[in-house]
Amino acid sequence: MNFVDIMDHDFPALQNDRFLRAAKGETVDKVPVWIMRQAGRYLPEFQQIRANHDFFSICQTPTLACETTLMPIKRFDLDASIIFSDILVIPQAMGLVVEMRPGVGPVLPNPLIDPKDIERLKKPDVGVELKYVADAITLTRKTLNGKVPLIGFTGAPWTLMGYMLQGGGNPTMAKARCWLYRYPQETHDLLQRITDVIVDYLVLQVKAGAQALQVFESAGDYLNDHLFTEYSFKYFKQISERVRKQLAEEQHPMVPMIAFPKGATMNSIEILAKDHSYEIIGLDWKVDPTEARARVGPDVTLQGNLDPCALYGSEESIEERARNMVEKFGKHRYIANLGHGILPDTPISSVEAFIRGVHSV
Ligand code: CP3
Repeated sequence: MNFVDIMDHDFPALQNDRFLRAAKGETVDKVPVWIMRQAGRYLPEFQQIRANHDFFSICQTPTLACETTLMPIKRFDLDASIIFSDILVIPQAMGLVVEMRPGVGPVLPNPLIDPKDIERLKKPDVGVELKYVADAITLTRKTLNGKVPLIGFTGAPWTLMGYMLQGGGNPTMAKARCWLYRYPQETHDLLQRITDVIVDYLVLQVKAGAQALQVFESAGDYLNDHLFTEYSFKYFKQISERVRKQLAEEQHPMVPMIAFPKGATMNSIEILAKDHSYEIIGLDWKVDPTEARARVGPDVTLQGNLDPCALYGSEESIEERARNMVEKFGKHRYIANLGHGILPDTPISSVEAFIRGVHSV
């Protein structure tokens, strides 16, 4: 069967619906928990696969992407899985070279420099260029056999633009931020082109079997409220509206969507949450749970936000912090997670303590 023909009833029935219940605001027996980067380098079995395969080869090989996605699900009592891939597969599909260098991170050797470089970008047919992600999702959804739901994801336009201009991760994002003032029109042109790809890509992931979608605005730190509204929120909203519209037109069931505006100010978080274009708002580790709930109101699900570095404390302290966090957020409309990706040398026993703490409330 081709993935585009697949509907929900073609997959095994879901056995653990805590994550989806929390997304919809239904009661849960225990708070659902998953971890950003849960299939990553802190797992010895991932290190082993990495010893023999390049990072993007794993992403591009559905059997390997599936096996990697399932690694943390086999080990831990997690309530959701997330497809093994990367946000940078979109710049690749648009024609830019992206390498993953061990110890360095992603490198784009030929970044965009000025607006004329936008013309270098392709408008990819995602069903062709990113078919490998769809195939990995379909295979993983089948192999999961209904154990937990499968989340698909993308980077948000501003974050992807940042990588395309900076040529990799960057502590100041100065080149990308300069564009916002120097070339506002061209910036919107670039963000719009990326958004068009993202919309098709998310629809493709849902049709392939993704049961929720997360949009990572990892570079939210670099935007004040005005810039966030203009260059992030606007596209977050457009993505959600167009994905929902396309799925509805094709009579495909809708899935919950998570916006993760990492580093965004509380005002920006409030703007995004109160727009209700996303059922779930992910919070980074600097946000105070009580303040966040007070600001966004009761009818949005919140996700997060333990400091990934808290997993270097004692097991007792981790369990205690996890319990405290759940008590502050409350069990209703809440999904536990870290406030950013898990770090590569996190002890396995800390991950177990975190999950135990969340589920003990
Ligand atoms: O969460 C999961 O388990 C699913 C897989 C996943 C990866 N990257 C795998 C990965 C997801 C959801 C991502 C998202 C991603 N990728 C983001 C958004 C989240 C965030 O961290 O803000 C970003 C910014 C990227 C880009 C990226 N990929 C960076 C900056 C790096 C290097 C950083 C680091 O930790 O070294 C990557 C590499 C990467 N992506 C790894 C993994 C498992 C490690 C690469 C390796 O094995 O060499």
